[in-house]
Amino acid sequence: MEGAKREEGGPGMESEGKAAAWTMRRHHEFLREEVHGFPGFTHRGIPSPSGYNAPEQVHITQGDQVGRAVIVSWVTPSEPGSGHVKYWKDSGDGSEPGHKKMYDTKYIYEIGDGDTARRFSFTTPPPVGPDAAYTFGIIGDLGQTSDSNQTLEHYHSNTKGQAVLFVGDLSYADDHPLHDNNRWDTWGRFVEKSVAYQPWIWTAGNHEIDFLPEMGESVPFKPFLHRYHTPYKASKSTFPLWYSIKRASAHIIVLSSYSAFGKYTPQYQWLEEEFPRVNRSETPWLIVLLHSPMYNSYDYHFMEGEAMRVMFEPWFVQNKVDLVFSGHVHAYERSHRFSNVAYRVSNGQCTPAYDKSGPVYITIGDGGNVEGIANRFTEPQPSYSAYREASFGHAMLEIKNRTHAYYTWHRNQDSEPVVGDTQWFYNRHWYPHEEP
Ligand SMILES: [Fe+2]
Repeated sequence: MEGAKREEGGPGMESEGKAAAWTMRRHHEFLREEVHGFPGFTHRGIPSPSGYNAPEQVHITQGDQVGRAVIVSWVTPSEPGSGHVKYWKDSGDGSEPGHKKMYDTKYIYEIGDGDTARRFSFTTPPPVGPDAAYTFGIIGDLGQTSDSNQTLEHYHSNTKGQAVLFVGDLSYADDHPLHDNNRWDTWGRFVEKSVAYQPWIWTAGNHEIDFLPEMGESVPFKPFLHRYHTPYKASKSTFPLWYSIKRASAHIIVLSSYSAFGKYTPQYQWLEEEFPRVNRSETPWLIVLLHSPMYNSYDYHFMEGEAMRVMFEPWFVQNKVDLVFSGHVHAYERSHRFSNVAYRVSNGQCTPAYDKSGPVYITIGDGGNVEGIANRFTEPQPSYSAYREASFGHAMLEIKNRTHAYYTWHRNQDSEPVVGDTQWFYNRHWYPHEEP
């Protein structure tokens, strides 16, 4: 984004208003009433904004490969509205002609018209570079219950978070009769207080599939794909569910557990070509997001991520992925650094073993959704599992420089400053030794 004080739909700002209008609701009154039946959490506190056809469910995500563009999306409830985004720098009088470096800059943006215009802000990240410090929040399987609300409130109260890595399962609309799409709307209003102000990086989970052929809906992922956009083309992907971004000192690869990933498939081919594009001198931190965990020692969804593990774990180890974040299991687990890539049909070597080139796997599907907590474990705790706890919460990853990142997990029953689990991570490219 470059330019004068105020621009309309200028370069770098992709306006998604018209696309968002696809999800327009024609029965506004009904939309407002729908919120009453929520299990455990009423959304009466988050009504549609006042004014006819006011934009709602505003959310932003990264819009390009390096963090200088933003995708702004919203829904207008009664009819398609203006697709324009006005935005300007939030810096004094804004009189900085020719200002070129638009990283690390706070912008104000406005959508809607006249008395229904709504105004928000975001801050662009620092330029991509090896020592660019940046703090990500990590949230998964959020849903929209009182527990979800606690998770979001805790994250929101932590002023360190600059962007969210969301590991899938957003609204849980499909847990309601006929995949009640009003739940997508209520969820959009629920998370707006965070995602209208900082980008959430989207991963698709099983609750995004929304496959309902008996109702004539045979195209998977339709509500998610129409409501939540990703900058997939910028990373040479051919489909929105797998892509990558660079942000500060991190290269983040997003995969789809529920799209084909076998050899020769588009996702496989893309990932095979993506790893060589990762430049650890530019982005030391290599992070993978996917929904169904490859390692999970809970008695829920056990081994569901195994097929993808078999396909992709060797690449994770060869490319020294630092961290793999997953959701799906509604609890928390962090692994040691290890791998299980020695196995061949003839050698029987199928035991996970310490591997300093292996990622740390973190399951963080503990956002607090309508399906409840996962509180049964497989016993004994496998040696690769470092910490597991059946509590709702979220995590923070504070990247300090090219070698060090400080990671914390915050459970909901504690106040936000309390840390439930913590770890210093040492970068696998710049500190490829055994960690202290
Ligand atoms: Fe899931």
